[in-house]
Formats: sequence, structure tokens, C-alpha cells
Amino acid sequence: MKKQSIGVGLMGLGVVGGQVARVLSDKAEMLAEQVGCPLVLRKIKVLEPDLARPQAKRMSARLLTTDEEEFFATPGMDIVVEAIGGEHPALEYLKRALSNGQQVVTANKEVIAKHAAELLALAQKKNVGLRCEASVGGGIPLVSPFQYDLAANEIRGIYAIINGTTNYILSRMARDGLDFSSALRQAQELGYAEADPSNDIEGIDAVYKLAILASLAFQSQVRPEDIYCEGISRLDSRDFRYAKELGFAIKLLAIAKQSNGSIEVRVHPVFIPEDSFLAKVDGVYNAVLAEGDLAGKVIFLGEGAGALPTSSAVVADIVQAARDISLGVGNRLRWRLDSGKVIKPVSQIETRYYLRMNIADRAGVLAQVARVLGDHSISISSAIQKEADKLTQTAEIVIMTHPAREKAMRQALDELGGLEVVKEINNFVRVEV
Ligand code: HSE
Repeated sequence: MKKQSIGVGLMGLGVVGGQVARVLSDKAEMLAEQVGCPLVLRKIKVLEPDLARPQAKRMSARLLTTDEEEFFATPGMDIVVEAIGGEHPALEYLKRALSNGQQVVTANKEVIAKHAAELLALAQKKNVGLRCEASVGGGIPLVSPFQYDLAANEIRGIYAIINGTTNYILSRMARDGLDFSSALRQAQELGYAEADPSNDIEGIDAVYKLAILASLAFQSQVRPEDIYCEGISRLDSRDFRYAKELGFAIKLLAIAKQSNGSIEVRVHPVFIPEDSFLAKVDGVYNAVLAEGDLAGKVIFLGEGAGALPTSSAVVADIVQAARDISLGVGNRLRWRLDSGKVIKPVSQIETRYYLRMNIADRAGVLAQVARVLGDHSISISSAIQKEADKLTQTAEIVIMTHPAREKAMRQALDELGGLEVVKEINNFVRVEV
């Protein structure tokens, strides 16, 4: 029998949850047309302090509860939407909803990145959908394209700017010559960076998102701990000056590549050519470039965070889940994790490198540096020396290499660090071309 309405339970009434509730109400008519019957918000699980928030005050009091048991006992709740964030208790709530046979929609990147396998197995067992479009890239459609629209492709690579906070900081460092801490402070003042921004600046947020994208793209389990990660705090305004001089931009990229059945997954700052598409993505924007064997290069660009874009993704998932319920379809998700691809250790990757170091400013020193690199089969593509300091008799040199193995580069760096003439290795950054 055709359903008269579809009931929705919402967990969390913060920035995202509040906006989702608002869209369900403001666009009720349009959404009902898409689904075929009205979507009815039946219960909202909130935390005690959230009751004082304006978004809670706008809701009818009978819809709100702080009690998990009362929430899950609500009759006629076909879809459970989780907008709490964080690992716990969100994971337990999602498992409970799936076990109840409810369709689940979540915006939670941490839970999906860490627990996709367990949740997908449970969804399959209970024959219900688990949707997470909002977990990566806010309003940019990503999960669905990788799950459905690119399904005929072998995805060869993903190159993504998927953290708006760090992209804003790097854009300011590049454009205005700010140092890292001033750029971070400005990001915080503008409300882009959280009071504790460590998950963003250390790359952890991007790792969660890449784990989800790579798992989808390669149909293989990629866990956060499988992803090599470096944040942006080691970058200095000098690196930006040199990058510009050499024709590069510096971005925090999430990279996933597949070749010959093995996968490479990493998040770290990279030099990319300044005329490439990703180099021009500035500010809080996110962008994902995917390369498929059939589709070629496909680019997604948009707002990766914020209440409105995120609610766009969450509500789209609710509509899809509701349509499945209307059509009597259970779990139709195409997301397997069992393709068995091997994840390469970072020591085996091969890229070009940028090195910046302080060396003694005297005859034969550059030759010693070049010899160490040569001994490890690392070929120099260019070298610049600047700003010799007469007082300390040191000079800063910047070396760009040809492609080299990470393992060889690390061994060379260790050896260089031990040379009497090398005063300091200031930075090394991988280069993607
Ligand atoms: N903190 C994230 C960012 C947004 O800066 O992009 C939420 O995923």
C-alpha cells in the first residue's frame, strides 16, 4: 500500500541539523512532490544545552527530546538522520537505527571513514540504505558520483582539496605573504577554523574524507590509518616565495592513485604547477579532480562546508531514502569494500621533491650535497642559492629533484642532516605535476 507520509527522525540540532530541519519545513511542498508523499519530521534528539538555541526555540516543543530511548521509540520514523558529528555516540546511534531497519542518512565523516565496513554490513543484513553524501565536500556531489555515475570507470587517481580551512590559510600565505600563525588567526576570526583547529591543520579531516572517497572509488577498504598524513604547519612564507619563483602553488592535497592492483593514499602539502586547475582553487572552496579510464578527467568544485551546502547534501539523501521507501526498495547501494587491493607504504611512492636547506657558504659545499643525492640515485632538476648570510657564512639553497623514490629521499635527507656543512634542512615538500 502506498505510504501517506514518510517519517524522519533527526539527531542533532546544531549548525547542520538546524538547517536540515529548516529545509524540511521551508521546502516541504517541493520535497513532497519529489518523494510522492510528504516528509514529516517526527522527533529531534538534542542535547540539553541545545534546547536554548534559536533553532530549538523555532521547533514545536513536542518534537524535541534529550532522551535516546524516547527518540528511538517514536512511531513511524522511517528515516534516521544523524547530524551530531564525532565518533561516539554517533556510531552507536547509527547502528541502532540500522538494526531497527530504518534507512539512515549521516553527515559524519569520522564514523564513515572509520566504520564503513561494519555499518555497510549491518545495512546489507537489514536491507536498508546507509547514505553519507554530506560526509565529504559539503554541498559538492561526490559520494553519489563515485557510487553511481562513474561506476563503469577504473578510477586511476583522485587529487582533492577537501579541507576549506587549510585551503584558506594556504591561499592567504600565498597571496598576502602571511606566516602560518597569522593566517590561522585570520581563519579563526572569520569563523572558518575551529577554536581547536588541529584536525584541519594536521590533515586529519582530509584523511577522513579521502578514506571515504578512496574506498568508494576503489571499492576497497581504505582506513584512516592506511593514509600517510602531514599537515600544513611546517610551511613557511619562504616556501611560498620560492614556489612562486619556480612557477608552483602550494596546496594541501588528498591524493589516491591506483595502478597494477595497488593503491597509494596520502594527504600532505604539495607543490603543483601554478597554471593547473587545482592551483587556482582558493579560499574555502573544495575541489576534487578524478581520473577515470573512460570518463577521463572529471572535476567537482564547490563549497565544502557550511550549513546551507551541507543541508543540500543531507536533504538530497533523505529524498533518495524516501523514494526507496516509497518504491519498496531496501538497500541498493553500490559500495563494496572487498576488491582486495594492496595499499603501498609511503616509502615506495615516487614523486619529485622540493628541498630547502641552510648550508655553509664555502667552496665545494654544493658538490657535497649533490653527491649525497646522486649516491641515492636522486637527480637534481634545478638548484637556486640565495640570501647568503655574511655574518653566519651560511646560504639558503633550494633544490628541485626529478622523480625519486621516497625511501631514497629519506635516506638522503638523513645523510644530508649529518653533514657538517648542512646547518639545517628547513623543509621538503613533494611535487605533483
Ligand atoms: N573543517 C572542514 C573544512 C569542514 O575546513 O573544510 C567540515 O568538513
